[in-house]
Amino acid sequence: MTQSKDASAATFRVGGEIDVHRLGFGAMRITGRGIWGEPKDRAEVLRTLRRLPAVGIDFIDTADSYGPDVSEQLIRDALHPYEGLLVATKAGLTRAGPDQWSPCGRPEYLMAQAHASLKRLGVSQIALWQLHRIDPAVPRDEQFGAVRQLLDDGVIRFAGLSEVTVDEIKAASKVLKVSTVQNRFNLVDRGSEDVLEYCEAHGIGFIPWFPLAAGDLAKPGSVLSNIARDLNASASQIALAWLLRRSPVILPIPGTSTVAHLEENAAAARIALSDEAFTALSNLA
Ligand SMILES: NC(=O)c1ccc[n+]([C@@H]2O[C@H](COP(=O)([O-])OP(=O)(O)OC[C@H]3O[C@@H](n4cnc5c(N)ncnc54)[C@H](OP(=O)(O)O)[C@@H]3O)[C@@H](O)[C@H]2O)c1
Repeated sequence: MTQSKDASAATFRVGGEIDVHRLGFGAMRITGRGIWGEPKDRAEVLRTLRRLPAVGIDFIDTADSYGPDVSEQLIRDALHPYEGLLVATKAGLTRAGPDQWSPCGRPEYLMAQAHASLKRLGVSQIALWQLHRIDPAVPRDEQFGAVRQLLDDGVIRFAGLSEVTVDEIKAASKVLKVSTVQNRFNLVDRGSEDVLEYCEAHGIGFIPWFPLAAGDLAKPGSVLSNIARDLNASASQIALAWLLRRSPVILPIPGTSTVAHLEENAAAARIALSDEAFTALSNLA
């Protein structure tokens, strides 16, 4: 595997218009257990969110379904009016309880949820709004049509997709401009290589969720431990540095609820992997 020439670029231009630092922040795990309700330590979560600008992070990913509503509300409480920050959100999954997620892609539901996020976040326009899932029970063009309507109405500025195939990106692109794609991807989980390559070829931002395999890649004894020790870095930092090096369109969004982990993860943006280290890591999976 090779990485692209410009993989050292510090920023990515979302929708060709808004520059953000490529290492972002995922705000799913700032809620309660099962991504449900209030977090156990609200004060630490607010401290973590307020620390984002100081550690150079200006791209935050959330969703209406995280909590539900709790993540968006915490982001507002901590960071409104978001000077210099891009807050991206999503809709398309309903929540019946902890760890329960069901797709709902009815156009009127998607539109109502986008308007609700707009209100909750306290903005006049959502900079990036993502269709969380394509609902198999609803014709996909109807879902894309709803997103197109949100763009045309100015409710959202740019649109993204999540957990999609190349064929689905192509189908959506006939209806709307796809600015980002958010799929599960990390050093040891590369099922979306074809989607990443498509995004790279078309200037679409690729947001790999699960970048630390929910902390497994950060644990002592993970597959990364030896290489991390040799590079005098933590395993989580190496997992993130590998993603940043893999492609200039990659925007990793590691999630954490603590300032200590945030600072550790943010420092990954300053790690320059050598060609040898990148190849050795690429060969791990
Ligand atoms: N589009 C989708 O369908 C989808 C699905 C899932 C997630 N997402 C997005 O992707 C983001 C990231 O995904 P994710 O939360 O599943 O996975 P992740 O970022 O790989 O892992 C987060 C977990 O790792 C732990 N962690 C973070 N930094 C650490 C460090 N330095 N050392 C040790 N542990 C650390 C966190 O616990 P602590 O709080 O203790 O640090 C948290 O439990 C989410 O926040 C969300 O925005 C999108």
